[in-house]
Amino acid sequence: MKTERIVRTFVEFFEERGHHRITGSTLSPPSGDPVLFTTSGMHPLTPYLLGRPHPLGRRLVNVQRCLRTTDLEEVGDDTHLTVFEMLGSWSLGDYEGPQSLDWGHRLLTEGLGVDPSLLYVTVFAGDEQTGPDTDSLRLWEERGVPVELTVEDNWWSNGPVGPCGPDSEIFLWSGDTPPRSTPTRDDRWVEVWNHVMMRHRRLGDGSLVPLPQRSVDTGLGLERLACLLQGKSSVFDCDVFEPWRRLVPPLWPLDEPSLRVVLDHLRSSVVVVGDGVRPSNTGQGYVLRRLVRRVLTVLWRDEPSRTLGDVPDDLVRHTLDHFRQAVDPEEVRRVLLDEEGRFRRLMERGRHLLARPRFQGPLRDEDFRYLHDTHGLPRELVLNLREE
Ligand code: SER
Repeated sequence: MKTERIVRTFVEFFEERGHHRITGSTLSPPSGDPVLFTTSGMHPLTPYLLGRPHPLGRRLVNVQRCLRTTDLEEVGDDTHLTVFEMLGSWSLGDYEGPQSLDWGHRLLTEGLGVDPSLLYVTVFAGDEQTGPDTDSLRLWEERGVPVELTVEDNWWSNGPVGPCGPDSEIFLWSGDTPPRSTPTRDDRWVEVWNHVMMRHRRLGDGSLVPLPQRSVDTGLGLERLACLLQGKSSVFDCDVFEPWRRLVPPLWPLDEPSLRVVLDHLRSSVVVVGDGVRPSNTGQGYVLRRLVRRVLTVLWRDEPSRTLGDVPDDLVRHTLDHFRQAVDPEEVRRVLLDEEGRFRRLMERGRHLLARPRFQGPLRDEDFRYLHDTHGLPRELVLNLREE
């Protein structure tokens, strides 16, 4: 099943049940939100989860692009991407968790054809502040889906303060053998869909207060589900990466782990630039800078003459179109190439400086400080240059 069809099936399923489709926002969260980037479909909806009436009503559905910097180091495994799309559904003070879980189960098994015996779910076991989520537990028992109870893994919050609540996560078996073990003990159980019972608000002192309305916020990772439905073993093999997999290896022959980092970070960089971010030393711009520089570090390890100027125009255009970003691909290429130029000059300056007798022995903290403060060379880069 192609990704586009998964999106259509998801959105239509919820539209048939009275949900209005809202347009996804950019990767920049609304002002006042505590995170750097939109990390979940609920970010743009925070004010409505806190109680403000939404102009389109109490039932919503959408597709939202997200970026998780916490996953930067995980990229390269089978399931993590820095930029990914999340399908989401919301009840804003309307139906409750069990209804959402029931629809989730039906959509996965009847709408998307998932074998019910390949499902496992987790449910909040309760802690000293909040009781166990018995409503979700009952629903899953009625549907005959095996349940694992956890505490920390089944509590969702957007940040240290704000709307939060117990969640129930749906996992799909990705192994070649019949399913075994449980989601927390075997990572062949892949989390695909999270249903959060948004009932609480965490305050600055750590206490919880009830929200004025009980809502449900769900998020389903599109590429992960696509990969499983398409019988692929990694998100990099699902149809989303089709043109990337076809066009990048002839350009730069790379081993699989390096190729995954390049595909993920380059595609994410295009999307981040497409949302108006420019490389800098702080905030969103710094994340972009890290993405681009990591791509270049991988590419230059084998061949220092490689350049982002060789990235086919079609790839940039395809990615911008996929994320519905009305941006000139040339502008994106120019931003990436400017950053490449800056990084190349910085590396040259670094090599030159590190050749001085003063830096021949082991580097001390004051050397790193001097190289950073006086010459703009971050510690990570100095370490890379010393390994050359
Ligand atoms: N906010 C939840 C998550 O990101 C569900 O959308 O997992």
